[in-house]
Amino acid sequence: MAKAIYPGTFDPVTYGHIDIIKRAREIFDSIVVTVAINTGKTPLFTTQERVEMLKDCLKEFQNVSVDSFDGLVVDHAKNVGAVSIIRGLRAVSDFEYEFQMALMNRKLAGEISTVFLMPHEKYTYLNSSIVRSLAGFNSDISDFVPPNVRNALERKFKK
Ligand code: COA
Repeated sequence: MAKAIYPGTFDPVTYGHIDIIKRAREIFDSIVVTVAINTGKTPLFTTQERVEMLKDCLKEFQNVSVDSFDGLVVDHAKNVGAVSIIRGLRAVSDFEYEFQMALMNRKLAGEISTVFLMPHEKYTYLNSSIVRSLAGFNSDISDFVPPNVRNALERKFKK
């Protein structure tokens, strides 16, 4: 049973992330989507909120679970028995950061491989910051995030 983890900040999850998860499901027997608690970012949503949003979006996918982790991604991968770390590559601009991270993770845990997947072209320009920014301006984000995430963003910005 080949298990992979898909780590990220997911603040919030977008259709671009879900596209990567769908592709990963075709390759691995099971996927753990894992929310990083400490990335040096200041998330809009709490860890619990990000986990709950992901669970709601992914509830129909039998072989996908959601959790969170604090610490090194390779340690979490080992803890859950994953053999691979999934990362999305949207554009060339992602490459340098991802390459560095993949090589460092390989140095830390040579038995865990990073697998890069490309989302559909329509998501290459998408990231969570843009979605948060658009939602803050009350703009239509329905092409970018599922309805539960759109509602959560609306609630956040009403406060
Ligand atoms: N669709 C849409 N957006 C995407 C995307 C996709 N397919 N893939 C990535 N993104 C966006 C994210 O929304 C995020 O946007 P934002 O910066 O505007 O919020 C951005 O790309 C970065 O995404 P993410 O994949 O969440 O990476 P990250 O840099 O925030 O965190 C971790 C990545 C969690 C893997 C990394 O911080 C980590 O490993 N932390 C643990 C510490 C560790 O192990 N360090 C050693 C590794 S060298």
